[in-house]
Amino acid sequence: MASVRLREIRKAFRDTQILHGVSLDIADGEFLTLVGPSGCGKSTLLRIIAGLEQHDDGDVLIGERPVDHLPPKARDVAMVFQSYALYPYMTVAENIALPLVMRRMNTWQRLPFIGRILPGTAERRRSIAAETDAVARILGISQLLERRPAQLSGGQRQRVALGRAMVRHPQAFLMDEPLSNLDAKLRVHARAEIADLHRRLGVTFIYVTHDQAEAMTMSDRVAVMMGGRLLQVAPPQEIYDQPATLDVARFVGTPEINVLPAHVRSDGAVEVGGRVWPVEVSAEAGTEVQVAIRPEALALGAAETRERTPPLAGSVCNIERLGSETLVHVAIDGLGAPLIVRVDPASIGSLSLQQAVVLTTVARAVSVFDAQGRRLERRRASQPVRLAELAHG
Ligand SMILES: Nc1ncnc2c1ncn2[C@@H]1O[C@H](COP(=O)(O)OP(=O)(O)OP(=O)(O)O)[C@@H](O)[C@H]1O
Ligand SMILES: [Mg+2]
Repeated sequence: MASVRLREIRKAFRDTQILHGVSLDIADGEFLTLVGPSGCGKSTLLRIIAGLEQHDDGDVLIGERPVDHLPPKARDVAMVFQSYALYPYMTVAENIALPLVMRRMNTWQRLPFIGRILPGTAERRRSIAAETDAVARILGISQLLERRPAQLSGGQRQRVALGRAMVRHPQAFLMDEPLSNLDAKLRVHARAEIADLHRRLGVTFIYVTHDQAEAMTMSDRVAVMMGGRLLQVAPPQEIYDQPATLDVARFVGTPEINVLPAHVRSDGAVEVGGRVWPVEVSAEAGTEVQVAIRPEALALGAAETRERTPPLAGSVCNIERLGSETLVHVAIDGLGAPLIVRVDPASIGSLSLQQAVVLTTVARAVSVFDAQGRRLERRRASQPVRLAELAHG
């Protein structure tokens, strides 16, 4: 087990700068997920940690030890790829055992016939088989050991790839979108398995995905990356409730966070659509800002209170019934794109298209961003809000 520390990692491919000085401390035993849109540099960063790619500048430390000049196999980390990279002509057992065979047996001992008569070979094979069995048991694939990869499901292949990484007892697991080949249902199952595996092994996991649901559900902390820079590194709930930038706010959460244009008044309060909201920020009077509200933080037709914002009047322009929740799209007069409200299907009764409605939210749930998309701190220190705990109405 080991911590992983990145200091000012820079990387360019030809003239294109891909990583712009990435610094990140990952604690021993932590599950950190690196998330961000396609092409933002996630795989490149992971490959740099693994030693599969050389960075131009900066340091990589694994367990406090600089590893910049060590080859991949000397870094004691295991990488699991999206494609699993299993050997098709080997059995599951052979695939899992491969790193041990390569490490513990010389070229002669590996030969099927000559190896058998060389001293010590049998004993080594036995200990490798025992370790392979132990890992297979943890992953629940003991019954598959004699099969070949082609005879496995996607989820089973993924577990074999994990098993091959596990037999080495690495200091850290690096996983690059290991679930992206699975269908949606299997992925939900597999991500619970990986989170459980992390708890049992207690080893550092660095997990790359562009799927924000994966990032939010499995990790101790999430690092949001865009354009080769880390925008925010924080526990999932903090990323969701207090995004550091508007880009982070938009990237995390489905449906996307609602954004409304607003400006700051001379008393610091935010004015939206001609109404003053009980939301104050430290910014100059007249500053153009954007207020952002999660779909579940908006309520239909709630009464106005001191904590609630003045009602926004609009009309229903779309209703998406998703079973466990309903998404109501509301066009607000003169305020651009419709807002999306997440509601409990049982609570809305007979809502119809074109119906006039009002929307409110609680002031605590509003994030405010400046014109550059940076989060503006709220002037009156309020308790950080947990949207999941907010009651509607
Ligand atoms: N060997 C290479 N040569 C040139 N450019 C590269 C190379 N590898 C990656 N890139 C570029 O670097 C950028 C980052 O790539 P990277 O694979 O790290 O992205 P990613 O965040 O993993 O994306 P995805 O989610 O699609 O896997 C991309 O623009 C990519 O085209
Ligand atoms: Mg990638």
